[in-house]
Amino acid sequence: MNLKGRDFLKLLDFTPEEILYLVDLAADLKAKKKQGILHDTLRGKNVALIFEKTSTRTRCSFEVAAHDLGMGATFLDPKQCQLGKKESLADTARVLSRMFDGIEYRGFGQEIVDELAKYADVPVWNGLTNEFHPTQMLADVLTIKEHFGRIKGIKLVYMGDARYNMGNSLMVVCAKLGMHFVACTSEKYFPEAALVEQCQAIAAETGATITLTEDVMEGTKGADVIYTDVWVSMGEPDEIWEERIRELLPYQVNKAVMDNAGPQVRFMHCLPAFHDLKTEVGQEIKAKFGLDEIEVTDEVFESEQSIVFDEAENRMHTIKAMMLATIGE
Ligand code: CP
Ligand code: NVA
Repeated sequence: MNLKGRDFLKLLDFTPEEILYLVDLAADLKAKKKQGILHDTLRGKNVALIFEKTSTRTRCSFEVAAHDLGMGATFLDPKQCQLGKKESLADTARVLSRMFDGIEYRGFGQEIVDELAKYADVPVWNGLTNEFHPTQMLADVLTIKEHFGRIKGIKLVYMGDARYNMGNSLMVVCAKLGMHFVACTSEKYFPEAALVEQCQAIAAETGATITLTEDVMEGTKGADVIYTDVWVSMGEPDEIWEERIRELLPYQVNKAVMDNAGPQVRFMHCLPAFHDLKTEVGQEIKAKFGLDEIEVTDEVFESEQSIVFDEAENRMHTIKAMMLATIGE
């Protein structure tokens, strides 16, 4: 498998074999790290990390993984550099390509990361756009494989706003890897029809299924994974909270939903999550709408069935694998 020089912009660009290769490489690198075996074969190389939106997991994963691989990492905040205001993406991409061996971008539209990749001579990695979050998918697949011992045939139910980066990306990865994807939410929040059609065509080849349903009990029955994400994503206006709470509260992940799925079910969330009042936003929502928890109850988040911190750890191992494979040893 040779992924040297490839961009990592969305999983639609990768074959099932390539995705599984990256997940297996991540598992190897994780095992090595646990044994204290260094894998710093990219010594002397450097990566640039551009974050137009905030991040804890993704930024730390790139920085720690780069360090473990022997590389330097430079964090770029577009507000503190020339990007956008004084210098175009095309020029920035060409400048960074002269100094770095890979460029990560987190921000708004997918067309921005596509444009960076078009002009860069080094691999460009999508660290989250409005449309896709592909590095998160590698971590999620590794986590599912660790907990269930298999990927194919797993039923993954996504509840919440399935039209955005997480819903889209999970539908794509499930289609690619022969999993059963269910978007269980109000019809307004179903993924875009064109992407559903594209995923259905992939699913026909891999044995995956794609289901869109508004019925919580039917949708979550027999689920292996129940997955949710924040109801208002980065870059969306605060005013939208009221509508989202009204429309998505029936799709909150709570104990009744988990019990309905069965004892095999595990809870996943890309994080950050609003499951208690220990955040500023959590406090604001409590004051305005009287809710103590939002997309997932604290009971489910803190339960034995919740594997969210394994998932968060796996961001680092999978991002390491993706950088190693695309930069190449
Ligand atoms: N899951 C995820 O991308 O987290 P951050 O926003 O903290 O990077
Ligand atoms: N949908 C969320 C994902 C965060 C990792 C957002 O875009 O804010």
